[in-house]
Amino acid sequence: MTFNLVDPADAPKAIPLRLVGKAQLEAVLASLPARERAILQASGFDAAAGSVRLMHGEDGAVSAVVAGIGASILSQAEHDLWAIASLPTALPQGVYRLADEPSADTATLLALGWALGTYAFETFKKQARRNASLVWPEHADRGRVVREAEALTLARDLINTPANLLGPVALAEKAKAMAEQHGANVTVTVGNALLEQNYPLVYHVGRAAVEEPRLVDIRWGEESHPRVTLVGKGVIFDTGGLDLKPPASMKIMKKDMGGAAAITALAHMVMAAKLPVRLRVLLPIVENAISHEAFRPLDVLPSRNGMTIEIGNTDAEGRLILADALTEADSEKPALLINMATLTGNARVAFGPELPTLFTRHDDLAAEIARHSVERADPLWRMPLWPHYRKQLDSKVAHMNNVSDSAFAGAIIAGLFLAEFVSDETRWAHLDMSGWNFGSRPGRPEGGDAQAIRALYGVIEDMAAKG
Ligand code: BES
Ligand code: ZN
Ligand code: ZN
Repeated sequence: MTFNLVDPADAPKAIPLRLVGKAQLEAVLASLPARERAILQASGFDAAAGSVRLMHGEDGAVSAVVAGIGASILSQAEHDLWAIASLPTALPQGVYRLADEPSADTATLLALGWALGTYAFETFKKQARRNASLVWPEHADRGRVVREAEALTLARDLINTPANLLGPVALAEKAKAMAEQHGANVTVTVGNALLEQNYPLVYHVGRAAVEEPRLVDIRWGEESHPRVTLVGKGVIFDTGGLDLKPPASMKIMKKDMGGAAAITALAHMVMAAKLPVRLRVLLPIVENAISHEAFRPLDVLPSRNGMTIEIGNTDAEGRLILADALTEADSEKPALLINMATLTGNARVAFGPELPTLFTRHDDLAAEIARHSVERADPLWRMPLWPHYRKQLDSKVAHMNNVSDSAFAGAIIAGLFLAEFVSDETRWAHLDMSGWNFGSRPGRPEGGDAQAIRALYGVIEDMAAKG
């Protein structure tokens, strides 16, 4: 995939594109030929983000473009990443080149923003528009841009594809195909075999659906490298089970495999970059459906680590399937363990859909993730694993309940549930994310998205560099 980024050798006649921030407006105006300055001033150009002015030559063709990129609200990285993401669809079709070559970091972020700005979910209906193209900025890290754009495109497509076309069989196949493309070993444990191999929670949660529950297990890289294990919640569609979700909440639950999609995308980045790590990926994949075989409120289910779980609510299914996967992941004592999940509505109530929530027992890991989050403009924020709420998961009949009776702190309680399956020493991060853009912004159209994976990639890359 090229993401409408072209080699300079293939575009000798590219149209110069001048980016102007609010702070540079005066200086840029002063430096321009009188005619161009007059056009900009007469049209009220104020360098607002997304504003565009076309300059025409004697023959009437577009000879140059001036694009406003506003002012930075958060970090410079955030500004750079989205500065030109609206342009592939806003500019007339053609090939453009940056009039000024930015520094390497900025060039890489601008190019990624351009690539993401070309995304549309076109499985059912092609967009009428054609994207404009950009000449690769000279100092951009092309490999990184392509890996990240491929990963995000893959995750977005997986999440956007409705459950009737992407059931447990198809999602497992997609993850497997991605992994095999990198020469990884993949096993998929399906249906009754989950019971035989002691993944009872994955089995029971997924049992009601026509397509059987399954666990995708991917291994890649040399044994001698640091072990990184990634786990993603793959709930194909979350009806809520018998404790059925109300219609408004159920509507977008095709995105409940967003964790598995994001982890698949992150794994693609790691393997495509050939990072020297020993990667393992575990994707428990189920459909939380309703039938005579559905698990029920007050059922008591066994789990992989031997604890019995009383079901307070069948809608808290994600933590159940993750529990078995995390037990297996933790048993190998990985140097880093990350899970991603669209786990609770409450995380969205607390932080809104733009900010994935991070839970970890390890302050140093939290700090590392936060640093990469800022550097790569991939936002997330930490929430506490507040130990005093753990008792709310106590059950009178089993080792633990899957929900608390309280309406408070749902995201924290879910994190505490998962924590029961990961040993204290393991450097573990749990991300509760929305996986969905509720409105359209440049480069981030309404629909599925893989949040936080570029920040997490930074942590894995650092680990690999240290060996
Ligand atoms: N998939 C949902 C969480 C969710 C809801 C994510 C809305 C994004 C938007 C999860 O399986 C769930 O239903 N969680 C319940 C837990 C509750 C029953 C304790 C929730 O958050 O309401
Ligand atoms: Zn649920
Ligand atoms: Zn769910």
